[in-house]
Amino acid sequence: MMAAMNRPDRLALAARPTPLQPLPRLSAELGVELLVKRDDLTGSHLSGNKIRKLDYLLHDALARGATHVITCGGAQSNHCRATALAARPLGLVPVLVLRTPSGTAADLSSPPAGNQLLDRLAGAELRFVTPDGYRDRERVMAALAAELERDAPGARAVVIPEGGSSALGAWGYVDAAHEMAAQWGDEPADSVVVATGSGGTLAGLALGFKAAGLPTIARGVAVCDDEATFRAIVRRIGAEAHAAYGLPALDDADFDVIDGFVGRGYALSTPEELAFLRDVARGDGLVLDPVYTNKALRAVVTLLRADPTRLGRRVVFVHTGGIFGLFPDAEALAAVL
Ligand SMILES: Cc1ncc(COP(=O)(O)O)c(C=O)c1O
Repeated sequence: MMAAMNRPDRLALAARPTPLQPLPRLSAELGVELLVKRDDLTGSHLSGNKIRKLDYLLHDALARGATHVITCGGAQSNHCRATALAARPLGLVPVLVLRTPSGTAADLSSPPAGNQLLDRLAGAELRFVTPDGYRDRERVMAALAAELERDAPGARAVVIPEGGSSALGAWGYVDAAHEMAAQWGDEPADSVVVATGSGGTLAGLALGFKAAGLPTIARGVAVCDDEATFRAIVRRIGAEAHAAYGLPALDDADFDVIDGFVGRGYALSTPEELAFLRDVARGDGLVLDPVYTNKALRAVVTLLRADPTRLGRRVVFVHTGGIFGLFPDAEALAAVL
């Protein structure tokens, strides 16, 4: 069990515990015990991994007297959608900084699809930046917060970092690690594998397993960027979490970053990748999203086909949600049906 730590308070928006289920077809094929942690079932419109992080981040925003929350992501960001929909019933105005090729709304699909439709439904205030401008996202969001507070007397704008990936947000997956440990009983998983886009989920899992004294290795499959980038992010979040909350200090051996499965690039899929998504839906009854979970489970299957011992004997794949990202890809998906 976890040692005493300086655990921050949180909301309870995520439905938990989520089920831990066997994947019999893939387990038989791959020669390991493969389980899936159904974090796609943390809710409906608030589903996926982001809502566990937002339980902490939005509690903190409210405690700081926020009237607005500002966050950022790609044009189809699951994190932005979850933030927008979670913010409204808490009385917070969501402001989203979205990355589009031209840095304008002109690149959005018309009519809006997937997460964009839900952002609009929530009445989120949308701002756009180019990919170049997005590199400076923290400064962009800080400037926006200052502008909002200047223009609306009494406004207090709290910035939530990309993907909710901070030491505070990582607590959502410290909790999830603890939750899994209670579900798998006496035999801990050797590996827990998750899609990695901004690093907070991976950092939280690694911190959680270490805090619980478990030998389980958290492994993140990069769906953008590379191993060096995510190692640096997890190290930084780990160091901040250690300093702020007394979570254990992370070593490089406590987590793994799996490179080589980004494919054509972030949010881009090949017909072969989409055929994998189709086969998992048909064979395992699991609907993956093309941007994150499909690439991550495909990495697990590809690595285990090459070497069934690569991830240990008992392997958990975390389904982190993202279903709304399926719909903007409908045309490409239809070609493999
Ligand atoms: C569906 C889904 N899975 C996985 C991730 C990756 O999580 P993280 O950003 O914590 O690395 C994200 C967000 O980036 C996501 O939306």
